[in-house]
This record gives sequence, C-alpha cells and structure tokens, in this order.
Amino acid sequence: MSKHLLAALKGQTNARPPFWFMRQAGRYLPEYRALRQEAGGFLAMCLNPDRAAEITLQPIRRYGMDGAILFSDILIVPMALGQSLKFAEGEGPVLGPLPESLNFTGAAAIYAPVIETVRRVKAALPSETTFLGFAGSPWTVATYMVEGGSSRDFGKTKSFFYSQPQAFEALLNGIVTATVDYLSAQIDAGADAVQLFDSWAGALAPLDYERWVIEPNRQIVAALRARHPETPIIAFPRGSGALYKRFTEIVRPTCIAIDTQVPPDWAAEVLQPLAYVQGNLDPLALVAGGKNMLEAAEHICGHLGRGPFIFNLGHGIVPQTPPEHVAALCDFLRRI
Ligand code: CP3
Repeated sequence: MSKHLLAALKGQTNARPPFWFMRQAGRYLPEYRALRQEAGGFLAMCLNPDRAAEITLQPIRRYGMDGAILFSDILIVPMALGQSLKFAEGEGPVLGPLPESLNFTGAAAIYAPVIETVRRVKAALPSETTFLGFAGSPWTVATYMVEGGSSRDFGKTKSFFYSQPQAFEALLNGIVTATVDYLSAQIDAGADAVQLFDSWAGALAPLDYERWVIEPNRQIVAALRARHPETPIIAFPRGSGALYKRFTEIVRPTCIAIDTQVPPDWAAEVLQPLAYVQGNLDPLALVAGGKNMLEAAEHICGHLGRGPFIFNLGHGIVPQTPPEHVAALCDFLRRI
C-alpha cells in the first residue's frame, strides 16, 4: 500500500486528507504511562532505542494514523552540544549552564541511540505509514539553552540578543549546523519527512522574528533540501500570526503547520498557494470530544480540505485527553 501522507506531501491528491497528531505518543496513553514507570524517566526512555521505538508505535497500533512521529525531544540537540539536561518530575526540563563555546565532538554519540530508534521504527512500521523525524528550530532551542528551562517571557534570551547580538547569532549558527546534521542522520536512517518545531516563534517582534526565526529556519530548509531533495520538510513556527505569510514565502517549507489561532479560511487563501498546510484543531477540543470536536474538525476540513492539506492539531495532545476521543476523531477523518 502506498504512503498516504508522504504521497500527499509529494503533490498527489487524496480522497481524504491524511492525518497525524503532534504528541500522539505520550502521557494520555495508559500504555505509555506503564512503560515510563518501568523505564525510570522520560530522558532515559528517549535514549533507549527499544523503548523509544515501542512508544513511537503505540499510537499507530491503537489508531493507525497516516504518520508516526519519532519519540524523542527537541532538547537532545543542546545535550549533544555539551549542555547538561535532566527532566525533573513535575518541573519540565532543567538545563545546566550554557557552555562557553559549543562542542560538536560528542554530538554523534548522543544522536546514536536516537538514530538507532529511527532504524528500528522504520523496520517495524506498517508500509502505509509515513515516518516523521523532527528537531526544534534554533530560536526555540536557544530559549531553553539560555533560560535553563521553560520560561514565560524569555527575558534572559531577549536580553542576550539585544545586548550581544553577535554572540547570540553564533549560538544560533551552531544550532543550525547541529540540526542539519541531526535531521540528515534521521533521514539517512529512514525518516520519510521531517518537522521543525519553532514553538516560541510567536514571542518575537517582527524585526527580531526576521533574524531569529525566519533566517535560521531558511538556512536549515535550504541545507536539508540540498542534501535530501526528495524529503518533504514541515515547519511549525507556532504563534506567528500575520508573519506566517512572510515565513512561508522566505523559508519555503514543503508544508507549513498552523497553530490553533490561525483562521482556516485565511490559511486557505494566503498560505495554501505557497505550501501544504497542516493543522489546526484546538487540542482542548479533543479533550472535550463529542459534537463540538467534530464540528471544529469539519470547519477546518471545509476550508482547507480542497487544497493541499494534512489534518493535525494546532499544538500537541495534552495529558488529560481521553483516548476514546482520539479514536472518534480518527474515525471521523477516515470517513471524510
Ligand atoms: O509529538 C510527539 O509525539 C513526538 C515526541 C515529542 C516530544 N516532545 C515528547 C515529549 C516532540 C516532537 C517534542 C517536542 C518538544 N519538546 C517541543 C516542541 C513542541 C511543543 O510541544 O511545543 C518542546 C518545547 C519540547 C521541550 C519539552 N519536552 C518540554 C518543555 C517538556 C515538559 C513539558 C511536558 O509536556 O511535560 C518536555 C517533555 C516531553 N516531551 C514529554 C513528551 C511525551 C512528556 C514527558 C513525560 O513526562 O512523560
């Protein structure tokens, strides 16, 4: 059987839009929670190819989405560049001090178990399922590296780039290089397509956005395309608002992923002529389920379904999501 999602990304039209969901593996699934308890923590699971491959496959077994996304985390790249990382229970990520200079010598060894996971998933995945690799985009990854974890306002990161723009640019250039290598290795090991997560793109003023969001994403897309011209690239600059248009025009991803707040009719008119569009059901509509969820999904498909489109959420599945609501949404999407 052909890969529905991959065929769509390569320009073939489909009877129904292909679908997958960000964070489709994770805490809302009882089988994930069981494995996590055994594995001794989230990061240990990401770096164990057996477990990470199993978790990647869990939602596919249950629901048969058109795409499977590698189970890993965007913070593997800072770790590979020599910054310490742990996930404290209930606290999220905690990173050690930003290294004085980035160290690339240990990167391949840190990537190795993730790349092995890619190989194992590829071997085990049903032939009709498209396999997505991913990485964080440099701005979003840099916020974690500079803040030392999650942040509400990115105060330290903004002070850094306002006071030392050249040093910040050097940091982002290093992340660009590491990310291109990392995604290339994922593609070589079997990823059919890749997604770039710029989760905090929406935090920047337009001029800063140009320099720290558009430019590094453009460089990554251009470099990956030169190395792997056939591999589709999805970009998710979450929260970009009116800047989605400029991002898509300059970065030129194969597919642009839109967040929950983007009006589907606007995306159909402005973004679909430029790229595939992926999105954008509110993850909280999936928590609610029922008629409201299906109406919201129908609204999105009604506007975007006639053009090049991949159904997804506007951000990741949240832990309180009832698994049966995901089943109901998948049934609905299969019947369109
Ligand atoms: O989509 C998928 O299913 C693939 C796996 C994936 C994870 N993280 C697993 C994960 C992907 C693509 C990511 C990306 C990621 N990681 C992003 C960008 C996307 C987004 O959500 O905006 C960011 C910002 C991170 C960094 C990160 N990882 C944070 C801030 C946290 C803690 C918050 C949280 O949700 O717990 C994580 C942990 C994380 N990454 C979990 C999972 C399944 C939860 C781990 C657990 O406690 O079991």
